[in-house]
Amino acid sequence: MQIIHSGDEVRQLVWSMRGRGKTVGVVPTMGALHDGHVSLVRKSVELCDHTIVTIFVNPTQFAAGEDLEKYPRTFDADCQAVKAAGAVCVFSPSITEMYPDGCSTFVDPPAVALPLEGISRPEHFRGVTTIVAKLFNLIPATHAVFGSKDYQQLKVVEAMVSDLNFGIQIVAGGIIREPDGLAMSSRNRYLSPADRASALSLSAALRGAKELARGGETDIAKLEAAMQKSLAGVDKLEYATIVDANTLQPMQTLRSPAQALIAARVGTTRLIDNERIL
Ligand code: PAJ
Repeated sequence: MQIIHSGDEVRQLVWSMRGRGKTVGVVPTMGALHDGHVSLVRKSVELCDHTIVTIFVNPTQFAAGEDLEKYPRTFDADCQAVKAAGAVCVFSPSITEMYPDGCSTFVDPPAVALPLEGISRPEHFRGVTTIVAKLFNLIPATHAVFGSKDYQQLKVVEAMVSDLNFGIQIVAGGIIREPDGLAMSSRNRYLSPADRASALSLSAALRGAKELARGGETDIAKLEAAMQKSLAGVDKLEYATIVDANTLQPMQTLRSPAQALIAARVGTTRLIDNERIL
């Protein structure tokens, strides 16, 4: 497996693959890889002739005071995991490779970026759309795999690709969870044992809402109240809501497709999780 740091070099590699008629999948990540990331790499390996994983902790998607400096970095273990999953290349650029002095163009995110995370982290998706567009330009892949764990990010990237005519197919991977239900996240390592126990209430609240919906409850206010009750133990609940799964706009009565999404702070760690309810 190759490890490439230069944008020109990775672009040449991918064009040579494409020139030979091969399909190429890209899996963008910020590293500190866990089984959730690895499942995306495997999905790409199954789907495409060649898979490239990008590892770059993107500063423009972190606001001042967020965890950019302490974001976990486990590069050697990441490369081993990616190689074992069947990728042929890791692209790991430096900050100056991606944002040289004077770089001042950003991609304005689509409407689906405005609610939920867009309210809690107003600058976040502008950084995501910018880095993902830059990665897609450096890596002219046929497919890109994103996890449903970051559900709104997936919708934002899908809209950007459609709105800006990127010729790349976005493929969604499911959420990989710990056996007790906690969605895997690079940030779970920040959780103390007590935090870890209270973090379980996110997936429990989603399961509870889904069960109520299956039992015939269609009143969104009641479903959201039940989620909020299950989340009473978290340190700060930012949102626990059920919205249209495509537009992320609120609904009053449950109708398909409906997605439940939660963001909460447990200790000092901000966690997100989501589930299709109907
Ligand atoms: P990162 O948080 O490293 O996530 C990389 C990819 O892994 C995303 O598509 C995310 O949804 C997926 N992922 C994370 N946890 C998962 C889980 N438990 N199950 C399945 N997939 C999971 O998301 C980013 O990086 C960045 O914003 C990025 C897109 C790389 C742009 O910088």
